[in-house]
Amino acid sequence: MPLTTDLSEELISPGAPFLDDLQGNILKGHGRDHTLSVFFHFNAGQQVKAKAWLASFTKRFVPSANKQLADTQLFKDEGLPGGIFTNVFLTHKCYTYLGIPENKIPTDAKFRAGMAASNNDPSTPIPGLNSSLNDPPVSDWEAGFGGLIHVMVLIADDNPYFVRAMKRAVIFSLSGIATIMREQAGRGLRNADDNGIEHNGYADGVSQPLFYAKDVQNELDKGIRHDHWQPQAPLSLALVRDKGGKTPDSCGSYLVFRKLEQNVKSFKDKEKALAVELFGPSHTEAQGELAGAMVVGRFENGTPLALDGIEKPIGKDQVPNDYTFESPNNDSNNVTGGARCPFHAHTRKNNPRTDGFGNPALVDNKVHRIVRRGIPYEDVPRKRLPGGLLDDDVQPTGKVGLLFMCFQANIFNQFEFIQRVWSNNEDFEHGAVGISPIIGKTPTPIDQKWPVGYNNSVKKPFLFSDVVTMKGGGYFFAPSLSFLKGLSTATAIPVPLQIFDKLDAFLVS
Ligand code: HEM
Repeated sequence: MPLTTDLSEELISPGAPFLDDLQGNILKGHGRDHTLSVFFHFNAGQQVKAKAWLASFTKRFVPSANKQLADTQLFKDEGLPGGIFTNVFLTHKCYTYLGIPENKIPTDAKFRAGMAASNNDPSTPIPGLNSSLNDPPVSDWEAGFGGLIHVMVLIADDNPYFVRAMKRAVIFSLSGIATIMREQAGRGLRNADDNGIEHNGYADGVSQPLFYAKDVQNELDKGIRHDHWQPQAPLSLALVRDKGGKTPDSCGSYLVFRKLEQNVKSFKDKEKALAVELFGPSHTEAQGELAGAMVVGRFENGTPLALDGIEKPIGKDQVPNDYTFESPNNDSNNVTGGARCPFHAHTRKNNPRTDGFGNPALVDNKVHRIVRRGIPYEDVPRKRLPGGLLDDDVQPTGKVGLLFMCFQANIFNQFEFIQRVWSNNEDFEHGAVGISPIIGKTPTPIDQKWPVGYNNSVKKPFLFSDVVTMKGGGYFFAPSLSFLKGLSTATAIPVPLQIFDKLDAFLVS
Protein backbone atom coordinates (compact mmCIF):
# COMPACT_ATOMS: atom_id res chain seq x y z
CA MET A 1 0.00 0.00 0.00
CA PRO A 2 1.47 3.40 -0.85
CA LEU A 3 2.24 5.80 1.96
CA THR A 4 -0.17 8.69 2.10
CA THR A 5 1.67 10.77 4.64
CA ASP A 6 4.99 12.41 4.02
CA LEU A 7 6.64 12.99 7.40
CA SER A 8 8.59 15.91 6.03
CA GLU A 9 5.26 17.72 5.67
CA GLU A 10 4.70 20.94 7.64
CA LEU A 11 1.52 22.82 8.48
CA ILE A 12 -0.91 19.95 8.26
CA SER A 13 -4.68 20.18 8.52
CA PRO A 14 -6.98 18.35 10.94
CA GLY A 15 -8.89 15.44 9.46
CA ALA A 16 -5.94 13.82 7.65
CA PRO A 17 -6.61 10.03 7.83
CA PHE A 18 -3.31 9.17 9.56
CA LEU A 19 -4.40 11.32 12.52
CA ASP A 20 -7.14 8.76 13.24
CA ASP A 21 -4.42 6.28 14.20
CA LEU A 22 -2.16 8.65 16.14
CA GLN A 23 -2.59 9.26 19.89
CA GLY A 24 -3.62 12.76 20.92
CA ASN A 25 -1.35 15.13 22.89
CA ILE A 26 1.64 14.59 20.58
CA LEU A 27 1.08 17.19 17.87
CA LYS A 28 -0.95 19.44 20.17
CA GLY A 29 -1.12 19.49 23.98
CA HIS A 30 -4.27 18.22 25.73
CA GLY A 31 -4.42 21.48 27.70
CA ARG A 32 -6.07 20.08 30.85
CA ASP A 33 -4.97 21.37 34.28
CA HIS A 34 -5.01 18.14 36.29
CA THR A 35 -3.18 14.94 35.41
CA LEU A 36 -2.44 11.63 37.01
CA SER A 37 0.08 9.19 35.64
CA VAL A 38 -0.07 5.55 36.67
CA PHE A 39 3.13 3.54 36.19
CA PHE A 40 2.87 -0.25 36.32
CA HIS A 41 4.19 -3.56 35.10
CA PHE A 42 2.20 -6.61 34.11
CA ASN A 43 2.63 -9.66 36.33
CA ALA A 44 4.45 -12.78 35.16
CA GLY A 45 2.36 -15.03 32.94
CA GLN A 46 -0.40 -12.44 32.35
CA GLN A 47 0.38 -11.71 28.69
CA VAL A 48 -3.08 -12.59 27.36
CA LYS A 49 -4.88 -10.43 29.90
CA ALA A 50 -2.28 -7.69 29.54
CA LYS A 51 -2.97 -7.50 25.82
CA ALA A 52 -6.72 -7.53 26.44
CA TRP A 53 -6.30 -4.72 28.97
CA LEU A 54 -4.27 -2.53 26.61
CA ALA A 55 -6.66 -3.15 23.71
CA SER A 56 -9.86 -2.54 25.70
CA PHE A 57 -8.56 0.51 27.51
CA THR A 58 -7.38 2.05 24.26
CA LYS A 59 -10.64 1.34 22.42
CA ARG A 60 -12.66 2.99 25.15
CA PHE A 61 -10.57 5.85 26.37
CA VAL A 62 -7.56 6.86 24.27
CA PRO A 63 -8.54 9.56 21.77
CA SER A 64 -6.92 9.89 18.38
CA ALA A 65 -5.29 13.14 17.32
CA ASN A 66 -8.35 13.79 15.12
CA LYS A 67 -10.75 13.15 17.99
CA GLN A 68 -8.76 15.47 20.24
CA LEU A 69 -8.99 18.24 17.63
CA ALA A 70 -12.72 17.67 17.11
CA ASP A 71 -13.29 17.86 20.89
CA THR A 72 -11.31 21.10 21.09
CA GLN A 73 -13.43 22.56 18.30
CA LEU A 74 -16.62 21.50 20.07
CA PHE A 75 -15.40 23.21 23.21
CA LYS A 76 -14.70 26.42 21.27
CA ASP A 77 -18.02 26.34 19.38
CA GLU A 78 -20.41 25.01 22.01
CA GLY A 79 -18.50 25.32 25.30
CA LEU A 80 -18.73 21.54 25.77
CA PRO A 81 -15.68 20.20 27.65
CA GLY A 82 -13.83 17.45 25.80
CA GLY A 83 -13.95 15.17 28.84
CA ILE A 84 -11.25 12.96 30.26
CA PHE A 85 -8.15 12.64 28.14
CA THR A 86 -5.79 9.66 28.24
CA ASN A 87 -2.58 8.39 26.69
CA VAL A 88 -0.92 4.97 26.82
CA PHE A 89 2.87 4.83 26.70
CA LEU A 90 4.96 1.63 26.66
CA THR A 91 8.55 0.91 27.61
CA HIS A 92 10.80 -1.39 25.61
CA LYS A 93 10.47 -3.95 28.42
CA CYS A 94 6.73 -4.02 27.78
CA TYR A 95 7.25 -4.89 24.11
CA THR A 96 9.50 -7.81 25.01
CA TYR A 97 7.15 -8.97 27.81
CA LEU A 98 4.24 -9.00 25.35
CA GLY A 99 6.31 -11.01 22.88
CA ILE A 100 6.05 -8.47 20.06
CA PRO A 101 8.22 -9.57 17.10
CA GLU A 102 11.51 -7.72 16.82
CA ASN A 103 10.63 -6.05 13.51
CA LYS A 104 7.54 -4.46 15.09
CA ILE A 105 9.36 -2.92 18.07
CA PRO A 106 10.37 0.78 17.87
CA THR A 107 14.03 0.98 16.97
CA ASP A 108 15.42 3.99 18.87
CA ALA A 109 18.51 2.72 20.72
CA LYS A 110 18.01 5.02 23.71
CA PHE A 111 14.38 3.91 24.06
CA ARG A 112 15.53 0.31 24.04
CA ALA A 113 18.28 0.89 26.63
CA GLY A 114 16.12 3.01 28.98
CA MET A 115 16.89 6.30 30.71
CA ALA A 116 19.02 4.84 33.51
CA ALA A 117 21.52 3.59 30.91
CA SER A 118 22.21 7.20 29.90
CA ASN A 119 23.16 8.31 33.44
CA ASN A 120 26.83 7.74 32.82
CA ASP A 121 26.85 6.96 29.15
CA PRO A 122 30.20 7.79 27.54
CA SER A 123 28.79 7.78 23.99
CA THR A 124 28.06 11.27 22.82
CA PRO A 125 26.12 12.96 20.06
CA ILE A 126 29.20 15.17 19.40
CA PRO A 127 32.40 13.11 19.01
CA GLY A 128 35.07 13.97 21.57
CA LEU A 129 32.61 15.64 23.90
CA ASN A 130 32.51 14.40 27.47
CA SER A 131 28.83 14.40 28.19
CA SER A 132 26.29 12.42 30.17
CA LEU A 133 22.86 13.05 31.66
CA ASN A 134 24.64 13.27 35.06
CA ASP A 135 21.47 12.13 36.83
CA PRO A 136 21.47 10.86 40.42
CA PRO A 137 21.93 7.08 40.66
CA VAL A 138 18.73 5.06 40.23
CA SER A 139 18.97 4.06 43.90
CA ASP A 140 18.26 7.71 44.77
CA TRP A 141 15.18 7.98 42.53
CA GLU A 142 11.77 8.14 44.18
CA ALA A 143 10.07 4.85 44.93
CA GLY A 144 8.77 3.03 41.89
CA PHE A 145 10.55 4.98 39.16
CA GLY A 146 13.66 2.81 39.28
CA GLY A 147 11.74 -0.49 39.27
CA LEU A 148 10.23 -2.50 36.46
CA ILE A 149 7.82 -0.31 34.48
CA HIS A 150 5.93 -1.52 31.41
CA VAL A 151 3.27 1.14 31.00
CA MET A 152 2.55 4.74 31.84
CA VAL A 153 -1.11 5.71 31.56
CA LEU A 154 -1.67 9.47 31.54
CA ILE A 155 -5.10 10.67 32.67
CA ALA A 156 -6.03 14.34 32.32
CA ASP A 157 -9.03 16.54 32.98
CA ASP A 158 -9.81 19.99 34.34
CA ASN A 159 -11.79 18.34 37.10
CA PRO A 160 -9.44 16.61 39.57
CA TYR A 161 -12.26 14.39 40.88
CA PHE A 162 -12.82 12.89 37.43
CA VAL A 163 -9.10 12.26 37.17
CA ARG A 164 -9.12 10.42 40.48
CA ALA A 165 -12.22 8.42 39.55
CA MET A 166 -10.56 7.29 36.34
CA LYS A 167 -7.37 6.44 38.22
CA ARG A 168 -9.26 4.28 40.67
CA ALA A 169 -10.96 2.49 37.79
CA VAL A 170 -7.62 1.94 36.06
CA ILE A 171 -6.06 0.52 39.18
CA PHE A 172 -9.08 -1.66 39.93
CA SER A 173 -9.17 -2.94 36.36
CA LEU A 174 -5.54 -4.04 36.69
CA SER A 175 -6.04 -6.09 39.85
CA GLY A 176 -4.41 -9.47 39.50
CA ILE A 177 -2.96 -8.52 36.11
CA ALA A 178 -0.42 -5.88 37.03
CA THR A 179 1.58 -4.35 39.87
CA ILE A 180 1.23 -0.59 40.31
CA MET A 181 4.69 0.91 40.74
CA ARG A 182 3.73 4.52 41.23
CA GLU A 183 1.11 7.22 40.81
CA GLN A 184 2.08 10.80 40.07
CA ALA A 185 -0.29 13.76 40.03
CA GLY A 186 0.31 16.93 38.02
CA ARG A 187 -1.35 20.30 38.51
CA GLY A 188 -1.16 23.24 36.11
CA LEU A 189 -0.22 26.67 37.49
CA ARG A 190 -1.28 30.01 36.07
CA ASN A 191 -0.23 33.63 36.56
CA ALA A 192 -2.46 36.71 36.73
CA ASP A 193 -2.59 36.84 32.89
CA ASP A 194 -3.86 33.24 32.95
CA ASN A 195 -0.72 32.01 31.19
CA GLY A 196 0.83 28.70 32.33
CA ILE A 197 3.82 29.08 34.68
CA GLU A 198 6.32 26.85 36.48
CA HIS A 199 6.96 26.94 40.24
CA ASN A 200 9.46 29.83 40.18
CA GLY A 201 6.73 31.96 38.60
CA TYR A 202 8.01 32.11 35.00
CA ALA A 203 5.71 31.64 32.00
CA ASP A 204 6.34 28.12 30.66
CA GLY A 205 5.30 26.13 27.63
CA VAL A 206 5.60 29.20 25.40
CA SER A 207 7.99 28.34 22.59
CA GLN A 208 6.87 25.12 20.93
CA PRO A 209 7.22 23.54 17.51
CA LEU A 210 3.84 23.82 15.77
CA PHE A 211 2.51 21.19 13.38
CA TYR A 212 -0.98 22.38 12.42
CA ALA A 213 -1.45 25.27 9.98
CA LYS A 214 -4.23 26.47 12.23
CA ASP A 215 -1.95 26.79 15.27
CA VAL A 216 0.53 28.86 13.26
CA GLN A 217 -2.32 31.08 12.05
CA ASN A 218 -3.67 31.42 15.62
CA GLU A 219 -0.33 32.84 16.74
CA LEU A 220 -0.33 35.33 13.88
CA ASP A 221 -3.93 36.29 14.70
CA LYS A 222 -2.89 36.96 18.29
CA GLY A 223 -0.14 39.28 17.12
CA ILE A 224 2.81 36.89 17.60
CA ARG A 225 4.74 37.58 14.40
CA HIS A 226 6.95 35.03 12.62
CA ASP A 227 9.38 37.37 10.85
CA HIS A 228 12.53 36.13 12.61
CA TRP A 229 11.54 32.75 14.06
CA GLN A 230 9.18 30.34 12.36
CA PRO A 231 7.76 27.83 14.86
CA GLN A 232 6.41 25.35 12.31
CA ALA A 233 8.03 21.93 12.24
CA PRO A 234 7.90 18.88 10.00
CA LEU A 235 6.01 15.86 11.34
CA SER A 236 9.34 14.02 11.38
CA LEU A 237 10.43 16.13 14.38
CA ALA A 238 7.92 14.25 16.54
CA LEU A 239 6.73 11.20 14.62
CA VAL A 240 8.17 7.92 13.43
CA ARG A 241 6.38 5.14 11.59
CA ASP A 242 4.97 2.52 13.95
CA LYS A 243 5.85 -0.81 12.33
CA GLY A 244 3.45 -2.52 14.73
CA GLY A 245 0.52 -0.43 13.47
CA LYS A 246 -2.04 -1.72 11.04
CA THR A 247 -1.49 0.76 8.21
CA PRO A 248 1.65 2.03 6.46
CA ASP A 249 0.69 5.42 7.83
CA SER A 250 0.55 4.34 11.48
CA CYS A 251 2.80 6.61 13.52
CA GLY A 252 4.02 6.94 17.08
CA SER A 253 6.38 9.13 19.07
CA TYR A 254 9.03 8.67 21.76
CA LEU A 255 8.19 10.20 25.15
CA VAL A 256 10.78 11.28 27.70
CA PHE A 257 9.36 11.60 31.23
CA ARG A 258 11.39 13.14 34.08
CA LYS A 259 10.25 14.17 37.52
CA LEU A 260 12.28 17.33 38.23
CA GLU A 261 12.06 18.65 41.77
CA GLN A 262 12.48 22.42 42.12
CA ASN A 263 13.98 24.11 45.17
CA VAL A 264 12.06 27.36 44.83
CA LYS A 265 13.69 28.97 47.88
CA SER A 266 17.15 28.24 46.58
CA PHE A 267 16.22 29.63 43.15
CA LYS A 268 14.85 32.86 44.67
CA ASP A 269 17.84 33.25 47.03
CA LYS A 270 20.30 32.79 44.16
CA GLU A 271 18.30 35.19 41.99
CA LYS A 272 18.66 37.85 44.73
CA ALA A 273 22.36 37.11 45.27
CA LEU A 274 22.94 37.43 41.51
CA ALA A 275 21.18 40.81 41.45
CA VAL A 276 23.41 42.01 44.32
CA GLU A 277 26.53 40.74 42.52
CA LEU A 278 25.60 42.44 39.23
CA PHE A 279 23.85 45.61 40.35
CA GLY A 280 24.88 46.14 43.98
CA PRO A 281 22.98 45.76 47.29
CA SER A 282 20.71 48.74 46.61
CA HIS A 283 19.63 47.58 43.16
CA THR A 284 16.19 48.52 41.85
CA GLU A 285 13.25 46.13 41.60
CA ALA A 286 13.63 46.21 37.79
CA GLN A 287 17.27 45.11 38.15
CA GLY A 288 16.14 42.28 40.40
CA GLU A 289 13.73 41.18 37.68
CA LEU A 290 16.47 41.48 35.07
CA ALA A 291 18.74 39.14 37.06
CA GLY A 292 16.01 36.47 37.04
CA ALA A 293 15.42 37.00 33.34
CA MET A 294 19.14 36.38 32.73
CA VAL A 295 18.72 32.96 34.34
CA VAL A 296 15.71 31.95 32.27
CA GLY A 297 16.19 34.01 29.09
CA ARG A 298 12.75 35.54 29.61
CA PHE A 299 11.13 37.73 32.26
CA GLU A 300 8.49 36.17 34.51
CA ASN A 301 5.64 37.07 32.16
CA GLY A 302 7.59 35.68 29.20
CA THR A 303 9.12 38.82 27.62
CA PRO A 304 12.23 37.45 25.85
CA LEU A 305 15.55 39.08 26.84
CA ALA A 306 16.68 38.79 23.25
CA LEU A 307 14.04 41.42 22.47
CA ASP A 308 13.77 43.59 25.60
CA GLY A 309 15.57 44.59 28.78
CA ILE A 310 12.38 45.35 30.68
CA GLU A 311 9.22 43.31 31.22
CA LYS A 312 6.52 44.28 28.69
CA PRO A 313 2.76 43.84 29.22
CA ILE A 314 1.52 40.56 27.73
CA GLY A 315 -2.02 39.20 27.28
CA LYS A 316 -3.26 35.65 27.59
CA ASP A 317 -1.43 33.40 25.11
CA GLN A 318 0.34 36.39 23.55
CA VAL A 319 3.90 35.86 24.77
CA PRO A 320 6.30 37.05 22.03
CA ASN A 321 8.54 34.46 20.41
CA ASP A 322 9.68 36.17 17.20
CA TYR A 323 13.44 36.26 17.57
CA THR A 324 16.68 34.48 17.00
CA PHE A 325 19.90 35.49 18.72
CA GLU A 326 21.05 37.15 15.49
CA SER A 327 17.88 38.99 14.60
CA PRO A 328 16.39 41.49 15.14
CA ASN A 329 19.19 42.19 17.70
CA ASN A 330 22.58 40.69 16.98
CA ASP A 331 23.65 39.06 20.25
CA SER A 332 25.74 36.22 18.85
CA ASN A 333 29.31 37.41 18.64
CA ASN A 334 31.53 35.33 20.94
CA VAL A 335 33.03 38.42 22.61
CA THR A 336 30.41 41.15 22.39
CA GLY A 337 27.37 38.84 22.28
CA GLY A 338 25.44 37.31 25.16
CA ALA A 339 24.99 40.92 26.28
CA ARG A 340 21.20 40.91 26.02
CA CYS A 341 20.52 37.23 26.69
CA PRO A 342 23.47 35.44 28.34
CA PHE A 343 24.83 32.50 26.32
CA HIS A 344 24.00 30.13 29.19
CA ALA A 345 20.40 31.31 29.83
CA HIS A 346 18.03 28.33 30.04
CA THR A 347 16.05 29.14 26.90
CA ARG A 348 19.18 29.99 24.92
CA LYS A 349 21.01 26.81 25.92
CA ASN A 350 17.96 24.69 25.18
CA ASN A 351 17.05 26.30 21.90
CA PRO A 352 19.90 28.33 20.38
CA ARG A 353 17.52 28.74 17.44
CA THR A 354 19.57 29.58 14.35
CA ASP A 355 22.66 30.50 16.35
CA GLY A 356 25.11 28.22 14.54
CA PHE A 357 28.23 29.27 16.51
CA GLY A 358 30.15 29.33 13.25
CA ASN A 359 30.03 25.53 13.18
CA PRO A 360 28.48 24.43 9.88
CA ALA A 361 27.40 21.12 11.43
CA LEU A 362 25.23 23.01 13.90
CA VAL A 363 23.68 25.62 11.67
CA ASP A 364 20.38 23.79 11.69
CA ASN A 365 19.75 23.69 15.40
CA LYS A 366 16.05 23.36 14.67
CA VAL A 367 16.48 19.59 14.23
CA HIS A 368 17.10 19.22 17.97
CA ARG A 369 13.79 20.76 19.01
CA ILE A 370 11.45 18.83 21.29
CA VAL A 371 7.70 18.98 21.81
CA ARG A 372 7.25 19.85 25.48
CA ARG A 373 4.15 18.55 27.23
CA GLY A 374 5.17 18.84 30.90
CA ILE A 375 3.02 19.95 33.83
CA PRO A 376 4.00 21.17 37.32
CA TYR A 377 3.42 18.96 40.35
CA GLU A 378 2.91 19.60 44.07
CA ASP A 379 3.36 16.49 46.17
CA VAL A 380 2.77 18.87 49.09
CA PRO A 381 0.26 21.56 48.04
CA ARG A 382 1.64 25.10 47.88
CA LYS A 383 0.07 27.98 49.77
CA ARG A 384 -2.26 30.06 47.60
CA LEU A 385 -3.62 33.59 47.93
CA PRO A 386 -7.38 34.23 47.86
CA GLY A 387 -8.22 33.93 44.15
CA GLY A 388 -5.90 30.99 43.63
CA LEU A 389 -2.56 32.55 42.67
CA LEU A 390 0.56 31.09 44.34
CA ASP A 391 1.71 32.83 47.53
CA ASP A 392 5.26 33.72 46.49
CA ASP A 393 6.23 34.53 50.08
CA VAL A 394 6.06 30.84 50.96
CA GLN A 395 8.84 29.21 48.99
CA PRO A 396 9.12 25.42 49.08
CA THR A 397 12.54 23.80 49.20
CA GLY A 398 11.24 20.59 47.57
CA LYS A 399 8.21 18.33 47.00
CA VAL A 400 7.20 20.54 44.05
CA GLY A 401 8.54 20.79 40.53
CA LEU A 402 7.95 19.89 36.93
CA LEU A 403 6.82 16.60 35.44
CA PHE A 404 8.92 17.20 32.37
CA MET A 405 7.58 15.37 29.32
CA CYS A 406 8.63 15.75 25.73
CA PHE A 407 7.87 14.00 22.46
CA GLN A 408 10.41 13.46 19.71
CA ALA A 409 11.43 11.19 16.86
CA ASN A 410 14.94 10.48 18.17
CA ILE A 411 15.82 10.59 21.88
CA PHE A 412 19.61 10.86 21.38
CA ASN A 413 19.35 13.67 18.87
CA GLN A 414 16.67 15.64 20.65
CA PHE A 415 16.13 15.36 24.46
CA GLU A 416 19.59 13.94 25.16
CA PHE A 417 21.27 16.37 22.80
CA ILE A 418 19.65 19.30 24.60
CA GLN A 419 20.41 17.98 28.09
CA ARG A 420 23.93 16.68 27.45
CA VAL A 421 25.41 18.74 24.65
CA TRP A 422 23.82 22.07 25.44
CA SER A 423 22.59 22.23 29.06
CA ASN A 424 25.23 20.16 30.88
CA ASN A 425 28.08 21.31 28.75
CA GLU A 426 29.90 24.38 29.99
CA ASP A 427 32.52 24.68 27.29
CA PHE A 428 30.79 24.28 23.98
CA GLU A 429 29.63 27.02 21.64
CA HIS A 430 30.79 30.58 22.40
CA GLY A 431 33.57 29.20 24.68
CA ALA A 432 33.42 28.48 28.41
CA VAL A 433 29.97 29.89 29.14
CA GLY A 434 28.89 27.46 31.87
CA ILE A 435 25.88 25.17 32.27
CA SER A 436 22.17 25.97 32.10
CA PRO A 437 21.48 27.51 35.53
CA ILE A 438 18.18 25.61 35.78
CA ILE A 439 18.78 22.08 34.53
CA GLY A 440 22.51 21.87 33.77
CA LYS A 441 24.42 19.18 35.69
CA THR A 442 28.15 18.59 35.71
CA PRO A 443 30.38 17.45 38.61
CA THR A 444 32.28 20.73 39.19
CA PRO A 445 30.53 23.54 37.31
CA ILE A 446 32.37 26.74 36.42
CA ASP A 447 30.89 30.20 36.99
CA GLN A 448 28.62 31.46 34.22
CA LYS A 449 29.33 34.95 32.81
CA TRP A 450 26.59 37.54 33.38
CA PRO A 451 26.24 40.97 31.71
CA VAL A 452 26.50 43.80 34.28
CA GLY A 453 23.57 45.54 32.57
CA TYR A 454 21.17 44.96 29.70
CA ASN A 455 23.01 45.01 26.37
CA ASN A 456 26.30 45.42 28.19
CA SER A 457 29.13 43.18 26.99
CA VAL A 458 31.04 43.54 30.28
CA LYS A 459 30.44 40.32 32.21
CA LYS A 460 30.90 39.13 35.78
CA PRO A 461 31.31 35.53 36.95
CA PHE A 462 28.67 33.97 39.22
CA LEU A 463 27.70 30.33 39.73
CA PHE A 464 23.97 29.61 39.48
CA SER A 465 23.24 25.88 39.69
CA ASP A 466 21.64 23.08 41.71
CA VAL A 467 18.09 24.36 41.90
CA VAL A 468 16.58 21.26 40.25
CA THR A 469 16.95 17.58 41.22
CA MET A 470 15.97 14.69 39.00
CA LYS A 471 13.80 12.25 40.98
CA GLY A 472 13.15 9.56 38.39
CA GLY A 473 11.91 9.01 34.88
CA GLY A 474 11.87 6.83 31.84
CA TYR A 475 11.82 6.50 28.08
CA PHE A 476 8.52 5.44 26.51
CA PHE A 477 6.87 5.04 23.13
CA ALA A 478 3.37 6.29 22.29
CA PRO A 479 2.28 3.56 19.86
CA SER A 480 -0.34 3.99 17.17
CA LEU A 481 -3.90 3.24 18.23
CA SER A 482 -4.16 0.36 15.76
CA PHE A 483 -1.15 -1.33 17.37
CA LEU A 484 -2.70 -1.11 20.84
CA LYS A 485 -6.20 -2.05 19.73
CA GLY A 486 -4.87 -4.93 17.62
CA LEU A 487 -3.12 -6.55 20.58
CA SER A 488 -6.25 -8.51 21.40
CA THR A 489 -9.33 -9.53 19.52
CA ALA A 490 -10.93 -10.99 22.64
CA THR A 491 -14.57 -9.99 22.70
CA ALA A 492 -15.14 -11.02 26.32
CA ILE A 493 -13.87 -8.21 28.50
CA PRO A 494 -11.86 -9.50 31.51
CA VAL A 495 -13.96 -9.04 34.67
CA PRO A 496 -12.00 -6.22 36.30
CA LEU A 497 -12.27 -4.21 33.10
CA GLN A 498 -16.04 -4.15 33.40
CA ILE A 499 -15.48 -1.29 35.82
CA PHE A 500 -15.07 0.84 32.70
CA ASP A 501 -18.77 0.42 31.90
CA LYS A 502 -19.60 1.88 35.29
CA LEU A 503 -17.03 4.62 34.80
CA ASP A 504 -18.52 5.55 31.42
CA ALA A 505 -21.91 5.95 33.09
CA PHE A 506 -20.43 7.99 35.93
CA LEU A 507 -18.47 10.34 33.70
CA VAL A 508 -21.31 10.93 31.28
CA SER A 509 -23.97 11.46 33.97
C1 HEM B 1 12.32 22.10 36.42
C2 HEM B 1 12.87 22.13 35.24
C3 HEM B 1 12.57 23.18 34.20
C4 HEM B 1 12.06 24.44 34.34
C5 HEM B 1 11.67 25.15 35.62
C6 HEM B 1 11.97 25.01 33.01
C7 HEM B 1 11.51 26.28 32.73
C8 HEM B 1 11.41 26.83 31.47
C9 HEM B 1 10.90 28.14 31.17
C10 HEM B 1 10.39 29.13 32.21
C11 HEM B 1 10.97 28.31 29.83
C12 HEM B 1 10.58 29.58 29.04
C13 HEM B 1 9.23 29.58 28.43
C14 HEM B 1 9.02 28.69 27.25
O1 HEM B 1 9.56 28.93 26.16
O2 HEM B 1 8.31 27.71 27.41
C15 HEM B 1 11.53 27.11 29.26
C16 HEM B 1 11.77 26.89 27.93
C17 HEM B 1 12.35 25.76 27.43
N1 HEM B 1 12.81 24.67 28.13
FE1 HEM B 1 12.67 24.40 30.11
N2 HEM B 1 12.43 24.10 32.11
C18 HEM B 1 12.81 22.96 32.79
C19 HEM B 1 13.32 21.80 32.26
C20 HEM B 1 13.66 21.63 30.94
C21 HEM B 1 14.28 20.45 30.39
C22 HEM B 1 14.67 19.19 31.17
C23 HEM B 1 14.45 20.68 29.06
C24 HEM B 1 15.08 19.78 28.03
C25 HEM B 1 16.14 19.03 28.25
C26 HEM B 1 13.91 21.99 28.77
C27 HEM B 1 13.86 22.55 27.52
C28 HEM B 1 13.30 23.77 27.24
C29 HEM B 1 13.14 24.27 25.90
C30 HEM B 1 13.53 23.57 24.61
C31 HEM B 1 12.54 25.53 26.01
C32 HEM B 1 12.13 26.45 24.87
C33 HEM B 1 13.24 27.35 24.46
C34 HEM B 1 12.82 28.16 23.23
O3 HEM B 1 12.30 27.57 22.29
O4 HEM B 1 13.05 29.34 23.24
N3 HEM B 1 13.45 22.53 29.93
N4 HEM B 1 11.79 26.22 30.30
